[in-house]
Amino acid sequence: MKALEDEMFTWIRTNRNKCRFNLTNSGFSEPDLELFGINVSYEDYRLEMKEAPEIFTESISSIYKVRKENVVTTCGGTGGIFIANAYMKGKVSKIYVPPIEYMPMFLTPRSLGMPLAFKTPNREDFLSEKNFLFEFTNPNNPTGRSLDQRAINEMIGLAEENDSYLYSDETFRPFSMEENPGTLFNGSERVMVSNTMTKFFGLGNLRVGWLIAEENIAKELNNVKDLVTAEISNYSMWIAAQALANRKRFISFARQIIEKNIRILKEFLATHTELESDLADSSPIAYLKYRKGPGCVEFSRKLLQDTGILVVPGRYFNDENGFRICMTSDPSNFEEAMDLLNDYLNSTKIFY
Ligand SMILES: Cc1ncc(COP(=O)(O)O)c(C=O)c1O
Repeated sequence: MKALEDEMFTWIRTNRNKCRFNLTNSGFSEPDLELFGINVSYEDYRLEMKEAPEIFTESISSIYKVRKENVVTTCGGTGGIFIANAYMKGKVSKIYVPPIEYMPMFLTPRSLGMPLAFKTPNREDFLSEKNFLFEFTNPNNPTGRSLDQRAINEMIGLAEENDSYLYSDETFRPFSMEENPGTLFNGSERVMVSNTMTKFFGLGNLRVGWLIAEENIAKELNNVKDLVTAEISNYSMWIAAQALANRKRFISFARQIIEKNIRILKEFLATHTELESDLADSSPIAYLKYRKGPGCVEFSRKLLQDTGILVVPGRYFNDENGFRICMTSDPSNFEEAMDLLNDYLNSTKIFY
């Protein structure tokens, strides 16, 4: 294994304590759990601790309409990405990832030494090649956009014929604000998905995520998990199951923040034609592209230095001319940051 550095994590960790406006949080910050109807008492947990994994797995299976045997609990979404890739290394000879993608989705297979192409495979690729994995975030991080469901269905059909696989990280799917956000997993052994409690529920410190796969594959993923993290914290799963049960409250909380912030971003973009963004209807993240200007790391550094606004440069998503903005902060704070960015771009004309 080549232990490659995740430069996106380094960027965020190095700069998050130096900024005034942190626009790099793609998930909500940790909620006051009691306000969301969640019992955090350790004493109460101890009475139910043995059942916690079962209760959590049952919640996932009922929300996503899959069998309990399809669910593999993981240490956060990152744990799921690693387990999925380590398992797939023994199954496929090549990885496809979309041209703009969340860094761990390409850095993990690259670290594991797997051949990689930045391309969404088309029909011809499926017909002319065999035995590859297409892995992608859906909705995409950083753009927030989802792939067309019909195109994915076609890919699943083609993957079944040419011995290929699809693995999708569905971390941002709950931001659709639907009580049952759905999944691409359709029971096929060609499809695997992962998710996490980190972003929509703001429960990153619990380190709880999950993979959903066909039963026999799920068993093997559990074997990989035993080599990496083995157990997941029962206390975390006990809390996570309550959060899932109370998801309506999380949805109303998320809706009021995201709707307002998207409106603020749209107003900002309307006056900045030098920036382009294909905004999703309901997403905590947006990717802003520019045609002219400095490299994205240089721009992001300068922006931080001159205004205190922290964004993630596109380079860490495999693109040089853009940056990601997150809309998870309180709308008054987000509005202040966007006003400042507006003044900065107008005065510097940096993208002209
Ligand atoms: C698409 C995606 N998957 C996974 C993760 C990581 O999740 P976790 O913190 O649960 O490991 C992130 C975090 O940014 C993400 O954006």
